[in-house]
Amino acid sequence: MVIDLTELINEIGLLVKNCGKVILNADREKMAIDIKSGVADLVTEYDKNIQEQLKNGLKKILPEAKFIGEEGSSDELSDNGFAFVVDPIDGTTNFVKDFHISAISVALLKGRDVVAGIVYNPYLDEMFSAIKGQGAFCNGKKIAVSSQPLSNALVLFGSSPYDKALAKKTFELVFEYFNKALDIRRCGSAALDLCSVAAGRAELYFELQVSPWDFAAGKLIVEEAGGVVTSLEGAPLTFDGKTSIIAKNNVI
Ligand code: IPD
Ligand code: CA
Ligand code: CA
Repeated sequence: MVIDLTELINEIGLLVKNCGKVILNADREKMAIDIKSGVADLVTEYDKNIQEQLKNGLKKILPEAKFIGEEGSSDELSDNGFAFVVDPIDGTTNFVKDFHISAISVALLKGRDVVAGIVYNPYLDEMFSAIKGQGAFCNGKKIAVSSQPLSNALVLFGSSPYDKALAKKTFELVFEYFNKALDIRRCGSAALDLCSVAAGRAELYFELQVSPWDFAAGKLIVEEAGGVVTSLEGAPLTFDGKTSIIAKNNVI
C-alpha cells in the first residue's frame, strides 16, 4: 500500500489542532500534577489526556503504525515499519506555570527515518510541518534556516532539567556561546527551539540530554528547512534513547 504523506499530514494537523484546544482550555486551578523522575519532571492530567487522544486519533489515520509517546506505555520501534513518536505537551513546566510556550509534537518514522513531522504551538496557532524531501512549512508558508554566522546568532539551549548533573557542562557551553554570539535564550520546549532554528528566528539550539519525542518531529523540520541536526559530538541522532543534540543553520 502506498501512503499519501500529504493527505496524512493534513489529517494529523487537524487532530493536533484539536488537541491544542485542550492546552488552551485547561483548568490550571484544579489540574492534577504528578512528579515523575524528580521534582522538576512533571506530568499533568492534560499530558495524559492529549496523549490518549493522539493515540486513538493516529490509530485511525494509520492503523499499522506503532505508537511511542512520552506518557504511559509505548511500543518498540521496528526496523522497517511505521511508528508515531509523540510528545503530547513539550514544555510541561511552562504549561504548569501558564508561561504560554508549549507545543504538541508528532513524528512519523519509517524504520529509523523520520518521514513526516508536525509541531504545533496552540498559543500562537503556529503549525510547523515537514514531509521528507518536500521542505518545511509554518502555517503552510515555506520556512528556511537563516544564513547568519555565529557572531550574529541567537543561541537557544535546553537545560536538561531532569538531570542536574549535566548543569555544569551546559552552563559552560552557554557561557562560551554567549561570548561568541549575539545572545542566549532558554524557552522551555525543545520542539519549539528546533522550529525556531528551522524558521530562521534563531541560529543554533543545543541540549545535553533529550528524548526521541522531544526532537523527532523538529529534527525533520530543521533538516527540511536546510539546517543540520546531530548529537553534540556530530553523530547522527538515533531514536533508541536519550541523546545530546545540536541543531544549526548551515553556516555555523
Ligand atoms: C522538556 C522540554 C525542555 C527540555 C527538556 C525536555 P517536557 O520536555 O522540551 O525544553 O529542556 O529536556 O524534556 O518534559 O516538557 O515534555
Ligand atoms: Ca518533551
Ligand atoms: Ca512532554
